Amino acid sequence: MSEDTDAQAADAADAAGQAPDHEALSRALQFLMGDAEIWRPRILMSAVRLGVFEALAAEPIDPDALAGRVGAAPEGGLRLLRALKEMGYVEEDGDGRFANAFVSRHFLDPASPYYVGSWFLLNDADWPAWGGLTQTIRTGAPPDAGSIFVNPARLAPLLHAAHERARLFHVGELLQDLDLRGAGALLDLGGGLGTYALAFCETYPDLVCTLFDLPAAIDLARAEIARYPFADRVRLVAGDFNRDELGGPYDVVFMSNVLHGEPPDSAQALLARARRALAPDGRLVLRDSFLQDDGVNAFNGAVFGLTLMIETEAGRTYERRAVKEMLAQAGFGAIEEPSAKLMVAHAG
Ligand SMILES: C[S@@+](CC[C@H](N)C(=O)[O-])C[C@H]1O[C@@H](n2cnc3c(N)ncnc32)[C@H](O)[C@@H]1O
Repeated sequence: MSEDTDAQAADAADAAGQAPDHEALSRALQFLMGDAEIWRPRILMSAVRLGVFEALAAEPIDPDALAGRVGAAPEGGLRLLRALKEMGYVEEDGDGRFANAFVSRHFLDPASPYYVGSWFLLNDADWPAWGGLTQTIRTGAPPDAGSIFVNPARLAPLLHAAHERARLFHVGELLQDLDLRGAGALLDLGGGLGTYALAFCETYPDLVCTLFDLPAAIDLARAEIARYPFADRVRLVAGDFNRDELGGPYDVVFMSNVLHGEPPDSAQALLARARRALAPDGRLVLRDSFLQDDGVNAFNGAVFGLTLMIETEAGRTYERRAVKEMLAQAGFGAIEEPSAKLMVAHAG
């Protein structure tokens, strides 16, 4: 029997007032307890924050040396290493020295091209804000911790995390789903570290991208972009996209994971501003965690909706149909939907 059929049978038994069978209870309990433990992610956040995987990268070291290098108390360092060993992130040799396990070597050592440690740094930086979730759900008010966009200690790991994840999982897919041949000027609005602008410039040698973002983000992007040979085709503009001039006309305005940071009124206004920045035959490309009509999607969009309650003033994930209405309201014409995460709206 499939999981769905199992769940339906268990629901039917409950509805009929029958006692649930042992297997159904056991499966439900396993499902629940999978979400009950915060220990493992919390331990990884501390290990990454302390720089444990970086310290272990060069050569195997003993717990005292590790504690000295990362600024931990000897007892704390030892317990952390043992916990990481139990969890499968470090290995111990016969002489009591510890080294990174395969997963940490490739994904948690900052020198690795596949580093994704910023996700743990972001969650660590957001940790106090998550403590306010219940209150935010109760009141609906902006989080006490404020918006992630105005706090450099949270913005930097957010941008690095988005960059690392996009390079591993999203860029290749996007380049397949989106054809930018013929475009000469592209505005990457709220472009973060320039992940997509860089990928577009690499793929389309005649394209010039303007990366528009908040001043603190542009400072971080400048350092990242300078590493690429086509850096001269990524222009950097620091500003507030709700207030400042966006420039143009552009053939393409690209907004990835930006709309969900704004409440409906400013999201609507931003779409109108994007349209004004486009050439008459230009296109707006929205990439986001669009919800289905029932308010969820296959990539945790509703869960992300709650994350936005602790990370932003009033951001939210939008239902696909709501976005289409906003686009029409902003004066856009035909809309294409190349994938679940993309919408392409034509200016005319
Ligand atoms: C979730 S990040 C997305 C980054 C990138 N586009 C991506 O998809 O990985 C949202 C971006 O919007 C920027 N942003 C937020 N509010 C902004 C504002 N008022 N003006 C300009 N940029 C803003 C943030 O700094 C951040 O780079």
